[in-house]
Amino acid sequence: MSDPTAVQTAPDYVKNNKLIAWVSEVAQLTKPDRIHWCDGSQAEYDRLCAEMVASGMLIKLNEQKRPGCFLARSDPDDVARMEDRTFVCSSNKEDAGPNNNWVAPDEMRATLTRISDGCMRGRTMYVIPFSMGPLGSHISHIGVELTDSPYVVVSMRLMTRIGRAVIDLLGADKFFVPCLHTVGAPLAPGEKDAVWPSNKQHKYIVHFPEEKLIWSFGSGYGGNALLGKKCFALRIASIMAREQGWLAEHMLILGIEPPGGKKHYIAAAFPSACGKTNLAMLIPPKELKGWKVTTIGEDIAWIKPGADGRLYAINPEAGAFGVAPGTSEFTNPNCLAALHKNTIFTNVALTPDGDVWWEGLSQTPPMHLTDWQGKLWDPDGDTPAAHPNARFTVAASQIPCIDADWENPAGVPISAFLFGGRRTTTVPLVVEAKDWTHGVYMAATMASETTAASVGKMGVVRRDPFAMLPFCGYHFGDYFNHWLKVGKTVAQAPKIFAVNWFRRDELGKFMWPGYGENMRVLKWIIERCEGKSGAADTAIGKMPRYEDMELKGIGGFSKKAFDELTKVDKKLWQAEVKDHERLFGELLARMPAEMLEQRRQLEKAL
Ligand code: OXD
Ligand code: MN
Repeated sequence: MSDPTAVQTAPDYVKNNKLIAWVSEVAQLTKPDRIHWCDGSQAEYDRLCAEMVASGMLIKLNEQKRPGCFLARSDPDDVARMEDRTFVCSSNKEDAGPNNNWVAPDEMRATLTRISDGCMRGRTMYVIPFSMGPLGSHISHIGVELTDSPYVVVSMRLMTRIGRAVIDLLGADKFFVPCLHTVGAPLAPGEKDAVWPSNKQHKYIVHFPEEKLIWSFGSGYGGNALLGKKCFALRIASIMAREQGWLAEHMLILGIEPPGGKKHYIAAAFPSACGKTNLAMLIPPKELKGWKVTTIGEDIAWIKPGADGRLYAINPEAGAFGVAPGTSEFTNPNCLAALHKNTIFTNVALTPDGDVWWEGLSQTPPMHLTDWQGKLWDPDGDTPAAHPNARFTVAASQIPCIDADWENPAGVPISAFLFGGRRTTTVPLVVEAKDWTHGVYMAATMASETTAASVGKMGVVRRDPFAMLPFCGYHFGDYFNHWLKVGKTVAQAPKIFAVNWFRRDELGKFMWPGYGENMRVLKWIIERCEGKSGAADTAIGKMPRYEDMELKGIGGFSKKAFDELTKVDKKLWQAEVKDHERLFGELLARMPAEMLEQRRQLEKAL
């Protein structure tokens, strides 16, 4: 507490000395002109938005068409999560595993300290106390983000629960995860700010597992900057979850209520841009009249064992940061309805009358669009109007199908886990695991074709265990072991299923209609949970037969088409299992014996 600035600016309701000391220490290093403790109020949000409109960082959208909405345009170098700049700096390299970039913590700390000296000059440092999960829930945890980006403050207010109430919960000595973020762009006196400040030379998204500290430098975009999301709720939380006996997962959570029946909740893991938001807000087809689907969360689940032997989940977030392109009245009407007001759009296109547009929103683009970089868009050119990873940030309370229990501090009981990737071949529509250990194997070996949500090559099949490859904060071998252990400790472990909505025929055509029709698969899954529907045993698990699924109303979905969609091609699967072996080889030092045995059994069965 040697810095009088920070001490003076800490409001007197802040009683947590560790927090006050940390704010002071960071202020001494980063040297902001001002410190602002966020109270989380609407007035604060409105003031920051107005300031960003004045500085050019936000564009106010048409108040009649999109009340309370804004558009931000990021720097073209700062448009997505950067996995190659993301680090887990555990003391022991082996603990981070081959699934993480690692640098020795002392070395990383020295680098970050060097480049952060004076990095907030000319800016305000905002202190954002936030709760991941409903305030006071036994499943929730608290973080405090320090940032020099007002865009981050307003986004965090939509995505989490921020402000004074969180400080009160922290009290004098409660634990919080310190999250330090800077765009890394100090301003000299009188220097004009960039519309989207960031650091072209250095970008680091760093996690220190032992201290539970997050330190992000140089990017202002999404998961690199909104540190409650991927950095805390997945990477650091996955480490906390292992230490404390729970699960922090890259999963949506939805409620499914059969007509006149009991409501179930399922949690489903998919890699980025596999239609997670669409599945989370699904509208059942008319042939499944009476089935109701509600949303608890669309990206992350925190799951803890309950006293009754079931697993209970919360959505630690309070908003959605979703991919805009592809979202339409056809693919996700619920989501579109949520975006009519109080939404911050980033990197979408702008219409001449101050509305937004992105690829897929309508078949024909409106005339005279301004693209995501602020240039007049040429519809005949070869660049998209919206960036493929353009986003919307919106409060979950605006989602029309939000579940009545989405803020229930006790969480909701999970009946089934789903794991799915984007696979053109090999993986059938749906497979039920034989048991928990087999389910963990299916999840550990899942794969997906890469997309625009992260920087890197597109369209390549990569193994993405549990859809956690970019997000697991420790060695995957240890993570699989943790999952095996959880299955052994809960009396009523959920059933586990693998799904694939993306299989194509030889002509490249999708074999399954997807979207709302996925409800037919969910129906079979719920009926399996209730012991009401049949299945056939196959080498890779249990699968529905044609007669086990409700397929009426999907144009021409014959038995032949169904058999093609659910076919297990031995040759492709033998190659698949070889690739499982390659993955396990990389993780061998910490690989549970049960997983190796599962692989051997599968190989034999094929
Ligand atoms: C996301 C992701 O949710 O990349 O943004 O997974
Ligand atoms: Mn995600």
